[in-house]
Amino acid sequence: MRVDIVSIFPEYFAPLDLSLIGKARANGTLRLAVHDLRSWTHDVHRTVDDTPYGGGPGMVMRPEPWGEALDAFAPAELTPPRLLVPSPAGVPFTQALAHELAAEPHLLFACGRYEGIDQRVLDHAATRMPVTEVSLGDYVLFGGEVAVLVILEAVTRLLPGVLGNAGSLTEESHAHGLLEAPMYTKPATWRGLDVPEVLRSGDHGRIARWRRDEALARTGHRRPDMLTALDPESLDKRDVAA
Ligand code: ADE
Repeated sequence: MRVDIVSIFPEYFAPLDLSLIGKARANGTLRLAVHDLRSWTHDVHRTVDDTPYGGGPGMVMRPEPWGEALDAFAPAELTPPRLLVPSPAGVPFTQALAHELAAEPHLLFACGRYEGIDQRVLDHAATRMPVTEVSLGDYVLFGGEVAVLVILEAVTRLLPGVLGNAGSLTEESHAHGLLEAPMYTKPATWRGLDVPEVLRSGDHGRIARWRRDEALARTGHRRPDMLTALDPESLDKRDVAA
């Protein structure tokens, strides 16, 4: 997968050299490049923002540098990338969207700062490439950079070959619309607390049932919205009893 990121703070992306994302970059699974938006400015101050039309606090990112930057990644003769713009006004980022993005050949992230990017940049880009504004959640960050780190981490771990054990993907939270059951490792007793007996029983049927019940109970307490959204077809008789 190819990924390009445009930001006024390229330094934010230094952690993308680390850990499994760094490894995916080193072995070519992820071809990632970070670009400084200011390299598409032409004035001595390398200006990227200005006051909002209609008034109000803060600054808005001017369209010209963004327009030139996006032009550079969508030349007419090539298939354009999918443009992702992190914004608190975007669609919620979910595991389902992470799977969708992991299937794309080329992602382009535009990191806004301040009060966001002039809307015409997105409207114009949408005439040439798919554009999705994405929100990490119902809170406001300083800018899109941290959101891109989160989105990229969720997407990269879904790329073929990145996780050693593909089973981790099918068992984890959100894989079946439920939160994951609690996990334990050695020692069997720690500070007087025992690992649940069933997990040491070796009885795979009982273990699977216990994990499913824990996942249902946890999801019911912490995320009742997820439980309501579950497809009734995905529940078995013993789930309903639980
Ligand atoms: N930029 C600012 N706040 C954000 C949020 N909640 N999600 C994504 N990008 C953002």
